[in-house]
Amino acid sequence: MVIKDRSPFTPGNPVPVELFVGRTTQLEEILKNVKQARTGKQENIFLAGERGIGKSSFAKFVCNMACKERLLSVHVFLGQVTSLDEMVRRIFEELIKVSNTQSWYEKISDYFRDKIQQIDLFGVAVSFNPSKEETRELVNKFDEAIANIAEKIKPEKSGLFIVLDDIDTISRTPDFANWYKSFVDKVATHFDYFPICIMLIGLPEFRDNLSKNQPSLMRVFRVVEIEKLQDPEVRDFFSRAFKKVNIEVEESAMSIMVKYSSGLPTIMHEIGDAIFWIDTDGIVKVDDVVNGVFVAAGNIGKKYLDPLVYRAIRSEKYRSILRKLGESQLSKSPDLRFKKTDIVAKLTPEEKGVFDNFLRKMGELGVIIADKESERGTYKFINDIYLVSILMESLEHRSKAK
Ligand SMILES: Nc1ncnc2c1ncn2[C@@H]1O[C@H](COP(=O)(O)OP(=O)(O)OP(=O)(O)O)[C@@H](O)[C@H]1O
Ligand SMILES: [Mg+2]
Repeated sequence: MVIKDRSPFTPGNPVPVELFVGRTTQLEEILKNVKQARTGKQENIFLAGERGIGKSSFAKFVCNMACKERLLSVHVFLGQVTSLDEMVRRIFEELIKVSNTQSWYEKISDYFRDKIQQIDLFGVAVSFNPSKEETRELVNKFDEAIANIAEKIKPEKSGLFIVLDDIDTISRTPDFANWYKSFVDKVATHFDYFPICIMLIGLPEFRDNLSKNQPSLMRVFRVVEIEKLQDPEVRDFFSRAFKKVNIEVEESAMSIMVKYSSGLPTIMHEIGDAIFWIDTDGIVKVDDVVNGVFVAAGNIGKKYLDPLVYRAIRSEKYRSILRKLGESQLSKSPDLRFKKTDIVAKLTPEEKGVFDNFLRKMGELGVIIADKESERGTYKFINDIYLVSILMESLEHRSKAK
């Protein structure tokens, strides 16, 4: 019996640096830009990727590397932020926080004078509360304020790396695009030396928002995209994570974990976490994985498919189609592919009437895609575990109905 207290898996949170896998080309490219920023050339990167694909984890890893390259790095989350004032306040608060215990802190805090509050309740904590007018000033003179900080942290640091994560909400406002454009323009006209790299992170739609609001801004960004992980990277992840807690993984078990993860980091962590708690003897075997996949499918159903699919498709007709789809996959030894005509044959006339809409909606929600390699009218599930989740929902529904 192995005693367990802490899972190495972190579903829903950025991965710790030592378990980070893959993304080597993106890393190389970004590091090149980050280093270039040190020479005084301003850099603007946009990191794009679907929900849960690993953007924040990647940013965390890059911040870590940038630190080693002597850049002061901050990772600012702008999830629900809708105003430039709050955005800028958070950026400076973060900069002050990471500087708090550093040798240049005096110089920075001097600059912000009385607007910083030390809250020493639980160790060292700082908050930055400028007045409305002062915040406006920081928004309007962002270029100068940032350049000023870069100047003050010399010689310890040779530049700044600022990550603005989850910009989807704020990027929908025209304010943001216009502000960023004028910031970049001011830097270009007023500064020969601006050792600052800014990386924005958002869903791929961000580009559409921006180009709608401020078409010329698109040219400013280097776009870097994050996609699914490769199977060998997923394998590497599982072996490192289990090794960290002294658990062995049998090869046959490993290949199932890799298959079900389908390159999606979120799913990989859900599966790993479930297996970690299920295993009792310190060796992951096939039956641990089978049980683990079921538990993970249940969690994924609740956490991702529920909000994504079941809530989006309130219509009972859609749900019933989804169950029939799941069951028909089950009856022909689970397969990710299905033919539209095969499913139509199982539907009621009302369901048939909305089937095209249903397929389109499922496509938009990222559950299925048209399978370009097979004949027309063939679709496939994006990954196995969605299918397993859907099957579980339909089994549950059937047992409730009984
Ligand atoms: N390169 C990686 N190696 C190992 N695990 C990863 C990697 N990237 C992401 N993960 C894991 O995948 C999950 C999703 O990652 P993360 O939160 O970074 O994605 P995200 O794209 O920022 O998501 P969101 O769109 O919700 O902001 C987390 O559990 C994280 O630990
Ligand atoms: Mg994120």
